[in-house]
Amino acid sequence: MIKKIAVLTSGGDAPGMNAAIRSIVRTSYNNKIQVIGILNGYRGLCKNKMINLNNNKVSNIINRGGTFLGTARYMNFFEKKIRKIAIKNMQDKGIDALIVIGGNGTYAGANALHKMNFPCIGIPGTIDNDVFGTDYTIGYSTALETIVKSIDQLRDTSFSHQRISIVEIMGRKCGDLTLSAAIAGGCEFIVIPEIKYDEKKLIQNIKKSIKKGKKHAVVAITEHICNVKKLAKKIEFYTKKETRATILGHIQRGGSPVAFDRILASKMGFFSIELLLKKKFGKCIGIKNDKIIYHDIEKALNFMKKKINKKLIIISKNLY
Ligand code: F6P
Repeated sequence: MIKKIAVLTSGGDAPGMNAAIRSIVRTSYNNKIQVIGILNGYRGLCKNKMINLNNNKVSNIINRGGTFLGTARYMNFFEKKIRKIAIKNMQDKGIDALIVIGGNGTYAGANALHKMNFPCIGIPGTIDNDVFGTDYTIGYSTALETIVKSIDQLRDTSFSHQRISIVEIMGRKCGDLTLSAAIAGGCEFIVIPEIKYDEKKLIQNIKKSIKKGKKHAVVAITEHICNVKKLAKKIEFYTKKETRATILGHIQRGGSPVAFDRILASKMGFFSIELLLKKKFGKCIGIKNDKIIYHDIEKALNFMKKKINKKLIIISKNLY
């Protein structure tokens, strides 16, 4: 019988995490389950930083970006002795299960706890959209809107100066944000981790488009592929066109969640309590073809590699 649960957010914050916490707390209340909020992710869990949550404490947060519980990246959690402290802290408080909201690192933590026989559920919350077993993660759609808005702004100045603009977009090893933002922002060139990077070819293609009459262009590129400032210098050298690079950075993570993320988070929060009530532990939640589903966290971490939407790549190539 589940009577008391805890919730934490971990890894990079994502818009919509608050809406998920709110949904968990309110659905729990309706099922007579008490909820403890853990501050600052797994680090707070090990340091016993816990607060009681109730319906009032989660009012006025559905529209707020970030996570009001705080978050952290806590590498020590990979150590078993540290996880034992976490489990003891939860058992001392009479906590029966833990819901974690975050990305793959967060899932790895939950899976490790589950293997130590502590019931856990994972909800995907990250702007990167790189979590296996779900079409969308909470935060992705908001970040996408923020990025498209920034690209629109860059396009204005790029057009006015007849320049090339490079825009570096977050996503770690996943090109979803870059590809979708580039299509929505009308970017002329797209560089994503899923396609082998060829700098020479990119510059050649830019030169070709200038020859054909292009006066300005935006290059969208996922972070960690190259040094965009250096790339700008090279493009300028070979094309004789002024080029500027903009790293969007953490701007992409903030802001009020768009409706899609709020609804997704509300659905997933509700579903996480349903899973707990059915005693389905060690699961992670996803959305596939607009249906809320679940998988074993273990399976999601080990077997299901998230793949880029190949059709979208083909479409993007047809647009320029
Ligand atoms: O996972 C979300 C994310 O914003 C990635 O896109 C990015 O690579 C990383 O986090 C940045 O991490 P930090 O905020 O720790 O610098």
